[in-house]
Amino acid sequence: MKRPLVCLCLTGRTLAEDVELVERYSHFIDVAELRVDFLDEAERLNIREFPAMINVPCILTIRRVSDGGQYREGEASRTMLFARALAFAESNPKKNFAYVDFEEDFHVPSLQDAALAFGTKIIRSFHDMQNPVHNLAEKLDAMRTTGFEIPKVACMPHSLADVTQLFAEASALADSQQIVCAMGNLGFPTRILAHAVHSYLTYTTAAELLDKMISLSGQAIGHIDPKTLHDVYHFRQLDENTKVFGITGWPLKVTSSPKIHNKKFETNGMNAVFAPFPSETIADAFAFAKSIGVKGFSVTVPHKEHIIPLLDEVDDNVKKIGACNTVVHDHGIWKGYNTDAPGFSKALLAFTGLTDLHGKKVAIIGAGGASRAVAFAVKELGAQACVFNRTISRARAIAEQFGFAYATLGAESLEKLHEYSDIIVQTTSKGMGAEGEPNQDNDPLYFYDFDGTEMLYDIIYVPDVTPVMVRAQAAGCKVSNGLTMLQYQGDAQFMLYKEIYENA
Ligand code: ATR
Repeated sequence: MKRPLVCLCLTGRTLAEDVELVERYSHFIDVAELRVDFLDEAERLNIREFPAMINVPCILTIRRVSDGGQYREGEASRTMLFARALAFAESNPKKNFAYVDFEEDFHVPSLQDAALAFGTKIIRSFHDMQNPVHNLAEKLDAMRTTGFEIPKVACMPHSLADVTQLFAEASALADSQQIVCAMGNLGFPTRILAHAVHSYLTYTTAAELLDKMISLSGQAIGHIDPKTLHDVYHFRQLDENTKVFGITGWPLKVTSSPKIHNKKFETNGMNAVFAPFPSETIADAFAFAKSIGVKGFSVTVPHKEHIIPLLDEVDDNVKKIGACNTVVHDHGIWKGYNTDAPGFSKALLAFTGLTDLHGKKVAIIGAGGASRAVAFAVKELGAQACVFNRTISRARAIAEQFGFAYATLGAESLEKLHEYSDIIVQTTSKGMGAEGEPNQDNDPLYFYDFDGTEMLYDIIYVPDVTPVMVRAQAAGCKVSNGLTMLQYQGDAQFMLYKEIYENA
């Protein structure tokens, strides 16, 4: 198998800026794409010189607005620019463009002849910035007009089901050369698993320019920066034997799981990759996992409950907690686990220095999905507890399941909170991403004054120190954020993935 190349899209305003980008990322890329449409007008006059200014093969692209680019000046001037860039071919091929991207409806025989005569490969491209493309093989074949082109299809999926279909259709393309990619966050798997869609290359953008690309194109293009592709996903080591793991959720904008698991795969010498596959519905995510042969995946908000009825088997933790965060495919059987609860138990014991919680009175703040896993663990560790929540019915549901007390989250419950204050576990989202001084909007216990004897475990880990932790700490309390829970639940997940990897 030929490994897909890593292409860096150069979207600087000047050639000098683009040269600098290539130099900065040279260790991680194989090809660069000069996006002439991003250059200032004066710079466009000098594009012929560009291939000689960098040390990797270069694609020449002048993308029109209708294809997702920035070029607005019309076809005549675009043709002139192509001609200028492809003319005066040098005997040293390194000084010529290695590739030129002509859209499927752009046919100028003289340009095509010039490209072919001087060994510049033609990428024949088709973009649908709004919709997915079906009948991929047919679409690609229709673009192989001279037999020398590398056809390219880039499209916009509406759901992960469209991406699944793209993978399925692309699986038949092992013997031909083409570029295939799905755009947007949904299309992310096609960027990382480019080998599985038999794509000749995968496009990347410099980290510092990702935001600019998004704001100019008005949509998330789903590009990744080449360093992340290399450092986190070990892209160059992926091949047809690589076992695929991943994470699903929605919108899944921020997740540290790929970093954690890919690192573990690497240190354990496993040929495996952990890739995000965001999906609005769990049914689509599950269909994707089945279709592309995912061996195991993590499940996050909002799918932890809805995944359960789709599975063949679930462990006792999942049954009791009603939430599943880990799925593995074990010899044809899809099994669900919950590693949040054991992860939390381990973290809480490490934090308190205790071996169990017998005789302790614990306040559980919040009654969402995370709270249920915490309540399960607290029960198993032998504590008595009270669940405090803004919406009392949710507090009651959890409390009744585990034989705990419950109360509203507010000043009216002060006495109760003091009663259950040996250990306070904060599970609400209030304080997540908070900045600044503790206040009513970022501190779920703003009505409560710590006396310094409480131990506070906040399951939030961004920021490192939440506003409620600031107040507790100031009163002399022992405090912890949720990083240890994240780490321990990830360790437990990894053990499940490793077992599946070894037995696959
Ligand atoms: P998760 O799965 O992360 O626990 P969730 O199920 O949406 O997420 O639960 C969020 C928890 O944070 C709930 O306990 C929620 O309280 P309600 O049940 O009353 O909605 C709590 N929460 C979120 N925002 C809050 C706020 N501003 N004040 C108090 N509690 C809040």
